[in-house]
Amino acid sequence: MKKLHGKNACDGFVWLKLGQIVRCLMFSFVGLCGVDCFAEGKTTVIQNQAVLSNIEDGYLTALGGTVIDSGRIHRLDLVAAESQSGVMAPYRAKVWTYNGKIPGPVIRIQLGDTLEVNLINKLKQPTSIHWHGVRVPNAADGVPGLTQQAVASGAGYIYRFTPKDAGTFWFHPHVKSSEQIEKGLHGVLIVEDPKQPRFSQDLVWILDDWLLDRKGQIVDRFVTRHDLAHDGRWGNFVTINGQQQPSFSVHPGERLRIRLVNVANGRVFAPRFPGLTPKVIAVDGMLVAKPFPLDQLFLAPGNRLDLDLLVPKDYQGKNLELVDEFSRDTLSLARLAVSNVQAVETPDFSSPHADYFPDSEQLHATPVYHDFQLNAERGGYYGITWTIDTEAWPKVTPLKLQHGKFYRLRFSNLSSRLHPMHIHGQFFQVIARREKPVHENYWRDTVLIGPKESVDIGLVPVDKGNWANHCHILEHAEAGMMGVIKVE
Ligand code: C2O
Ligand code: CU
Repeated sequence: MKKLHGKNACDGFVWLKLGQIVRCLMFSFVGLCGVDCFAEGKTTVIQNQAVLSNIEDGYLTALGGTVIDSGRIHRLDLVAAESQSGVMAPYRAKVWTYNGKIPGPVIRIQLGDTLEVNLINKLKQPTSIHWHGVRVPNAADGVPGLTQQAVASGAGYIYRFTPKDAGTFWFHPHVKSSEQIEKGLHGVLIVEDPKQPRFSQDLVWILDDWLLDRKGQIVDRFVTRHDLAHDGRWGNFVTINGQQQPSFSVHPGERLRIRLVNVANGRVFAPRFPGLTPKVIAVDGMLVAKPFPLDQLFLAPGNRLDLDLLVPKDYQGKNLELVDEFSRDTLSLARLAVSNVQAVETPDFSSPHADYFPDSEQLHATPVYHDFQLNAERGGYYGITWTIDTEAWPKVTPLKLQHGKFYRLRFSNLSSRLHPMHIHGQFFQVIARREKPVHENYWRDTVLIGPKESVDIGLVPVDKGNWANHCHILEHAEAGMMGVIKVE
């Protein structure tokens, strides 16, 4: 069993933070650009109805479509409970699970199918399930105090929806999430589109970290001042699918679809395959307009990335590695052990990509409708309160938006910590960083905002309801950093 750094949990923690500071400095020079991101002059503001309707049409064409109902219904129970066995031999860390599993269940359905999940709460505290990234009816969104009541200990709740999009999504509680997600309550929902080509293997890699004490048990203090003064709770054991540095066997010549999901409370990953150039085919579940090499994107808490990776034909007997380059020391995350057999035939198709993605230069000239101020102040229940527009959940004023209308929203990070901002029920496009236009040809549901950085997003809300808008560093969210977007 390998520990990341240092002799005990706290040493390791401090050590990682140093790496973090170095990263933060880097951010302030380069910004958190994605691929295809370049800077031009300042944005100019125009208010032209024709321009706006043109953008709205583009967004709605890409996002507004209705799904053909297959008539199939997948029913399943998800039992949230303390598990009897432990994970991560030899420590046997006690975890909380859905249906007794770490990693949590991977549910696969096809586009057009309906999912009906019966949540049964056997925990000693209330819970709920939020379907992260899935465009669900508001009542199935899982946010107590906003879309439903928390599901009490011993009670249940039925979530029923037909996803509108194919892709890689995940689900997790929206109550005490700093504790419940850390302890292992999460799962993955894959919506398959039979129109997409078949890869040799379709792998789901759930990236997580755990903060364990000397006895190998989950440190049972949540939302600490330390977490709040930093980028949330960072663990000292990093796992993929609940295992440290797991190995997966592949054959030379295989073409892999690898779905990366970051379920960590606070840790950001920069996943890389040294020596190989996988293509990013989907971000946050949605296919990108044009697949691009994975060399710059980060995987912040909540984010997903789908990769198209070819195992070279002449790599018999070699090991390929997935590493994380976000922290100061490169961490080895997982290995692909290439078998020593003759190369198999490589499936031949062009990487899947979005059928249509709106492309409008005019985006960059639209005015900012609302500027969310992200900051912290002293005081409150946890000693430090994280705020959006100086308000802290649950005492927040909803931002009202009209469905079908285009909005440019800005997140201005006045603090020097990271904030991966996630909006429920919406996909948006990043259109500027630090007020300079960027060209991201893909949707996101969560965007990482660096220290003192501002990020502008373009959005056309489609579904009415009350949608949470929060930082996905779970400790920041628990300490207030959650607001509401009310789509009317
Ligand atoms: Cu994974 Cu409110 O989100
Ligand atoms: Cu935050």
